[in-house]
Amino acid sequence: MSRETIVAGNWKLNKTVGETRQLIRELRNRLAGIDSAATVIVCPPTVALETAVDAARDTGIAVGAQNVYWETSGAFTGEVSPAMLEAVGVEYVLIGHSERRTIFGETDEDVNRKLHAVLRSDLTPVICLGESLGQREAGETEAVVRSQLGAGLEGVAPDHAGRLIIAYEPIWAIGTGKTATPEMVNDVHRLIRRTIADMFGGLAADGMSLLYGGSVKPENARSLMAEGDIDGVLVGGASLKNESFAEIVRAAP
Ligand code: PGA
Repeated sequence: MSRETIVAGNWKLNKTVGETRQLIRELRNRLAGIDSAATVIVCPPTVALETAVDAARDTGIAVGAQNVYWETSGAFTGEVSPAMLEAVGVEYVLIGHSERRTIFGETDEDVNRKLHAVLRSDLTPVICLGESLGQREAGETEAVVRSQLGAGLEGVAPDHAGRLIIAYEPIWAIGTGKTATPEMVNDVHRLIRRTIADMFGGLAADGMSLLYGGSVKPENARSLMAEGDIDGVLVGGASLKNESFAEIVRAAP
């Protein structure tokens, strides 16, 4: 995959099936008036994915899942496989969102298993990572990000690296109203790109889309995406209202 501008909405535990249909219909209308080359992705809850795919058909809006399991089938109550997501027309999947890590105890090893399972499918993985406030204050950001990349992406074949999207989401900026400054984010994105270059080569690093997530709003989206190494954004709260989400799409270069 070559580097592209991406605006993705992570709806988290919000919106019923009916609300999903309505939100995507309205979004389609709003986006029709916006001239943007950005890839727009929405990630509704699992039960609404099929409806989302249906509502997004022929609109240019792509649908992503918020989570996935690494097994194909079997006795894994509550889980959903990559093949199941593909079968309903989902194209992207978030892996390792910080809420999955901190609330549900997902580890880098889990992220790695999920990533390998997704790479065996045609889904595009969006791997989420980032440091906590304590880690940033202790000067550990670089070490944390490097270690999440090393463990999360372990064993990925270099020719698969081009399929990955990475979302840097510092935990202290998620849902808190505190945004990392564009310069802070760009520094970490540069570090991510260097690490990817070390792991998979410069071509993979140059071609990889790196997203930022954490209190992205219409007011800060433009300055974030103006940075050379910030290729797009992963939006939580502001993706639940089309007014703000569409403005973020408009802000994409
Ligand atoms: P936020 O969430 O935009 O509400 O901070 C971002 C995310 O969790 O992906």
